[in-house]
Amino acid sequence: MIQTVSKTFFSTIAGSSGLKSLASRYGMRGPRSFARRFIAGETVEEAIAAARIIEASGLQQTLDLLGESVANMAEADAATRAYIEVIDKIVASGVGRNISLKLTQLGLTLDRATCVDNLRRILDVAQQHGFFVRIDMENSPFTQVTLDVFETMWEQGYRNVGVVLQSCLSRSVADAKRMNELGARVRIVKGAYKEPRAVAYQEKEQVDAAFLVITKLLLSGGNYPAIATHDPAMITAARAYAKEHGIAHDKFEFQMLFGIRRDLQAGLSSEGYNVRVYVPFGREWFPYFMRRLGERPANIGFVVRGILSER
Ligand code: FDA
Repeated sequence: MIQTVSKTFFSTIAGSSGLKSLASRYGMRGPRSFARRFIAGETVEEAIAAARIIEASGLQQTLDLLGESVANMAEADAATRAYIEVIDKIVASGVGRNISLKLTQLGLTLDRATCVDNLRRILDVAQQHGFFVRIDMENSPFTQVTLDVFETMWEQGYRNVGVVLQSCLSRSVADAKRMNELGARVRIVKGAYKEPRAVAYQEKEQVDAAFLVITKLLLSGGNYPAIATHDPAMITAARAYAKEHGIAHDKFEFQMLFGIRRDLQAGLSSEGYNVRVYVPFGREWFPYFMRRLGERPANIGFVVRGILSER
């Protein structure tokens, strides 16, 4: 209940352009700024520096150039070119070749065909350099179209690409079965957006139960699934299921967000599990940051302390 109210509140704030520009002015300033706990920085160089630290401690990473819902085609094109530049810089740096992106960043809300073209431009360069590209999942108006775009790419022979399914959506069990049929790589998450009752479970228990159903489907019949959660109960259940069914550690990975439960990340890695950290960076960090606050109201205390300590 508290989580639902909090998600609603923070998703409203996430859409406020006034607060966005205020936060953008102050949130990322200085090494102790409040947003830096969750966002690696505004530049790809800062993200690569974070990636190096992550890899030095035995973890893997995926870099996400933040951005969503661009306003026009020029912005979609700029985001596409920016991603290609990110790929080049990652190659030059020598860190792991894995990126995450959002289709509304590439123009999905404006024109689907152009968005597909933009995605193809990125996948071609990514493929050339041995990258894996994860298409993040946005809120439910985009679920079907995101999966459709993914399947179009799959039919065209791209295999360096994967999707995300959200256990809060009642459709996701069927979507997981479909992805298993294709042999596609899936990241399973609970879902970061406030969703309507018509399409989504409203109770945490239901979301958790569905998460485990889908995790088991993916572990048994999927292609190197990513179990993306910080919830110890989900992690314990996934580990137990894998052990019981003789699924080796190298057949799946755990994923967590930059700055969240670093203790769990390190612990799992030291036990021999593959752990990948999602590293967001870029100037468009405000909506991402608000979703993280909405997930855990206790983070507000952390932010307030950060602001006060900067005085
Ligand atoms: P839950 O919310 O139940 O939290 C379990 C525990 O984790 C909490 O008690 C707390 O200890 C810790 N925790 C969780 N969130 C925290 C936070 N913000 N700050 C501090 N501690 C926190 N969503 C989506 O809709 N589309 C997507 O593409 C993705 N992609 C994605 C990638 C990766 C690698 C991860 C880990 C997550 C996503 N998500 C996502 C977000 C996901 O849907 C979900 O909102 C968050 O992971 C929080 O849910 P948990 O599974 O961690 O459980």
